[in-house]
Amino acid sequence: MQTLITAKTPADGAQAQLWNGPAGRAWVDTQPVLDALFQPFEQLLVAAAHRGQRVLDIGCGTGSTTLALARKVGPQGHSLGIDISEPMIATARQRAVLERSAAHFLCGDAQTQTFEPAHFDRLVSRFGVMFFSDAAQAFTNLRRVAASDAVLHCIAWRSAAENAFMTLAERAAASVLTLPARQPDAPGQFAWADAQKVHGILTESGWAGIDIQPLDVACTLPEPALLPYLTRLGPLGLALQHTAEPMREQVINTVRAAFEPYVQGEQVRFTAACWTITARNSRCI
Ligand SMILES: C[S@@+](CC[C@H](N)C(=O)[O-])C[C@H]1O[C@@H](n2cnc3c(N)ncnc32)[C@H](O)[C@@H]1O
Repeated sequence: MQTLITAKTPADGAQAQLWNGPAGRAWVDTQPVLDALFQPFEQLLVAAAHRGQRVLDIGCGTGSTTLALARKVGPQGHSLGIDISEPMIATARQRAVLERSAAHFLCGDAQTQTFEPAHFDRLVSRFGVMFFSDAAQAFTNLRRVAASDAVLHCIAWRSAAENAFMTLAERAAASVLTLPARQPDAPGQFAWADAQKVHGILTESGWAGIDIQPLDVACTLPEPALLPYLTRLGPLGLALQHTAEPMREQVINTVRAAFEPYVQGEQVRFTAACWTITARNSRCI
């Protein structure tokens, strides 16, 4: 199946650097924690796929959803994950070998990657579509690879304001550390918070039957995983890579204390406020 694809060098500048650098390393290192945390979203995407389908997982990261889709679609189907991050794709490939999966992984920029046209029946993403510098270009490109009547199914975050857990680390750290402010319209975790904007992107790139519904999911994290989660990921995780002691310890103590309301015994619990987004490819390009 690899011959379907013309490999290209990742081109999405800043995001490519981030995901091939500190963010990618952090996701590789915390992969079991993140996969457990986001498993409900994976289940949702996998439940909607069918045996025998050809599925593309956009921004597949370390591959958990792609691997689960390969199990679901079976030997008659095909599950391919694409991601711009070489370290994350390397981890995904190792996982595929370990579990003798038929899933394939491609390191490339989903915004510009050339694929065999009209190949996939289903395009899915668990939090992998908010990072394109030109989202309309990306979804036009992705529609080329979609078969006629193929389904797009993406999960993305709603706003930072609705996801207080996700931004608490940086807000708590702000009393002791200066962090760069998030740019709400720039590519990043909350870039798809505005449903109207998402609708516009998909309409502009030719998708039809667009449906965007709120999705609130109860997420849990084992308490011992909270500190690695807070100190490796997101804007605080990036900043801590360049923060020396004793400031580092001060920041970590301040931030950990702020999360106490979310800790219930041995579990950390919060609600993830997301969108589930579906659309159809009504005509081939
Ligand atoms: C938040 S992570 C989600 C990873 C994975 N879907 C998961 O749920 O574990 C976002 C992913 O999008 C990838 N990504 C960002 N920009 C991309 C692009 N232009 N093309 C392909 N992947 C991209 C990142 O490398 C990263 O793996």
